[in-house]
Amino acid sequence: MIPLPQKNQLPKYEDLSGEQKYFLNQAQQYQELMMMYNCAVKEVRTKLEILNDDLSAKNERNPIEFISSRIKKPLSVAKKLQKYGQDITVESVEKYINDVAGIRVICSFIDDIYLVANMLIQQDDITLIKVKDYIKAPKENGYRSLHLIVEVPVFFSDKKKPMRVEVQIRTIAMDFWASLEHELKYKKDISQEAEIMEELKGCADVISETDLKMLNIRNKIKRNQTTDFSKMNQLTKSDFSILN
Ligand code: GTP
Ligand code: MG
Repeated sequence: MIPLPQKNQLPKYEDLSGEQKYFLNQAQQYQELMMMYNCAVKEVRTKLEILNDDLSAKNERNPIEFISSRIKKPLSVAKKLQKYGQDITVESVEKYINDVAGIRVICSFIDDIYLVANMLIQQDDITLIKVKDYIKAPKENGYRSLHLIVEVPVFFSDKKKPMRVEVQIRTIAMDFWASLEHELKYKKDISQEAEIMEELKGCADVISETDLKMLNIRNKIKRNQTTDFSKMNQLTKSDFSILN
């Protein structure tokens, strides 16, 4: 067994080498920064949960099926900085990486994606930094999802700090597809890769068509309802865009 150092055996900060002090400082700053990103995730997650609660109460159905979140792991952070040609320092993380804090929102229907996105970015403490609408313009491989980079102010004990969060919003079907495609992306030397990609692309198109059909069916059902609720969330084509 490795004996644990006694408290009085631990080196004092003053006795550390310059390199050790630098490492320790960076490690502490990194830990603090990740705590801050975690708080930013909580802020945005709460906003989304509130929107879901409110819309559910008004429309008698949940626009959001579920929400997941993650903080990017240190190795992925370092790889991304390397990819961008930036120094691997704590300062660079904040400056160059937009997706340290990530939230994924899964909706049942396509119009819910835009409803939730528009309601989030219209909140007066949210700043929209970037939109990538891979639903309107799917990636060549068939990937579909709405990506927002937003900035939210977070109040800490001694400061208020704007923090960036990536929000990916997609349907259950798009998410199902993305999970399988992700597996392909991170596997090396896969046999029949071209064939698999082709099949995945085909599935993405079918999924997209099915998502639209499901939306139409839901709207038809809704039109048959006689309650006042049915009038509250009737969306048209113009609702399928950000900040229209
Ligand atoms: P990254 O460097 O991968 O973060 O991409 P980016 O900074 O150019 O941003 P983009 O909005 O294109 O992608 C952000 C994230 O969306 C990625 O990190 C993935 O989680 C997801 N994503 C983007 N493209 C694909 C794709 O083709 N397939 C899957 N499965 N996920 C994707
Ligand atoms: Mg990413």
